[in-house]
Amino acid sequence: MTEKSEFRRYLVNIDSISAHQLFTDCLVIGAGIAGLRAALEAAEHHRVIIVCKGKAEESNTFKAQGGIASVLDKADTFESHIADTLRTGCGICDEAVVDLVVHQGPELVEQLLEWGTEFDLSENHIAATLEGGHSYPRVAHAHGDETGRAIAEALLDRVRHNPNIRIMENFFTIDLLTDNNKCMGIIGHERKRGPQIIWAANTILATGGAGRLYRETTNPEVATGDGIAMAYRAGAVLRDLEMVQFHPTTLYIAGATRALITETLRGEGAILVDSKGRHFMKEYHEAAELAPRDIVSRAILAQMRKTESTHVYLDVRHFDKAYFAKRFPWINELVESFDIDITHDLIPVRPSAHYMVGGVKTDSSAKTSVENLYACGEIASTGLHGANRLGSNSLLEGLVFGKIAGQEVSKNKRATAAHLKRPIIKHQIPHSDRTRLDTADVRNSLRALMWRNVGITRLDQPLSEAQEIIRFWQRYVMDKIFDSPAGWECQNKLTASLLIAQSAQQRRESRGVHYRRDFPKIDDENFKKHIKISRKSEENQ
Ligand code: FUM
Repeated sequence: MTEKSEFRRYLVNIDSISAHQLFTDCLVIGAGIAGLRAALEAAEHHRVIIVCKGKAEESNTFKAQGGIASVLDKADTFESHIADTLRTGCGICDEAVVDLVVHQGPELVEQLLEWGTEFDLSENHIAATLEGGHSYPRVAHAHGDETGRAIAEALLDRVRHNPNIRIMENFFTIDLLTDNNKCMGIIGHERKRGPQIIWAANTILATGGAGRLYRETTNPEVATGDGIAMAYRAGAVLRDLEMVQFHPTTLYIAGATRALITETLRGEGAILVDSKGRHFMKEYHEAAELAPRDIVSRAILAQMRKTESTHVYLDVRHFDKAYFAKRFPWINELVESFDIDITHDLIPVRPSAHYMVGGVKTDSSAKTSVENLYACGEIASTGLHGANRLGSNSLLEGLVFGKIAGQEVSKNKRATAAHLKRPIIKHQIPHSDRTRLDTADVRNSLRALMWRNVGITRLDQPLSEAQEIIRFWQRYVMDKIFDSPAGWECQNKLTASLLIAQSAQQRRESRGVHYRRDFPKIDDENFKKHIKISRKSEENQ
């Protein structure tokens, strides 16, 4: 039977006998907080390879500013962090998972400090600040607004000194190899050595997010949704892909790369004003600037429409200049590079795609529906966030579930490369005479389409239109065999975008980050549940 090109199992031809091959007990795909933490845990008993598509420093973790949320102060409580997480998740969090992550948080954050993360301290304790949706200041930060970098550098340093771990950078994972719903490793492409297979007794997917599917995003170039697409092709169950979180405040200077302006700035008193200088957030929510992100993002969008402007502003003119430079050094340097003097000038901002709340469904042991395949970090849908993620709960989730995934692997001492029975995998893609599209143009047009039709607010007809256009592009892109990351990324982006648009159309209600203008209310009766999608369910339709 010839497979339809959009359901192609693998993106490239495979002959597992003649391919260049490596073997490992545990393979980790991705080098953000979740991947690094998982690798360290798995390396207790196993040999581990980490592959990442760029340099290890190019992860979303590296760019995280605000911090990592955890109960660190005696006056704070687990109950309060749990309640804030559940409230923000709008009824579809997994309560047992919320409980687990919140309780494991403090010990693992303290461990990061022991491992060399230079958290900002107050009286010898980790200092914590407030973010929207939290009812207590519990967001730990490092080097002011360079929390992600500080954490990732400490973990990377530990990983690089661990003799059981090897990092392979500039390695693009093309596909997960499976045999009878068992993950056997990957086929990938290393910039220096070309295509190769890595056979692994255990594979941990920690590929991060998908912000680059959207024209406006805080995410680095590597966040192209590859994990979603490859897990889908491998038959894994994906969950709640419609839940894409938009961050309210991204620096908006036409022509310049978008950059995150951390929410902790609002936590510490920054005010949103529109182009007419009006403080508008109170009109939308009693918590004003500290309302949950989805509400602030939609309020900004509405105010931009009202004032016919491309952006609003953050007003920090009341901050002490020296304090601002010390507390937010990265943002300070960024705005200064655009000649914005924070004591006189406003900072132009608008919302942009920030975080993939949905992802590959896992259980509380980080196991996916594919045997020997684990997922953690942004690519996973563990049940912590429900329909909306509380600020700074993502680094926490990556840390906790990274450790859990690594521990699960480590527990099974016989799951090693030596015990691996390798199947013979041969996959031959038929030649296609269809015309070639310019994939760079498809990628740009796709990002614009996703922003317009599958963005902050959604409607049935534009969601249908998005799927129709993506399917059209797929006909000319999914039938080809590419030999470099740009082509595979384009294929992955089309797959991931289509799945997001389909899921968004299925959820005919508004919940958390998913807002339908045609169904503006929460509908518990029909939708207090997850939207699941898998290749098998799609093929059978
Ligand atoms: O605003 C921020 O610093 C973002 C934090 C987060 O996404 O958790």
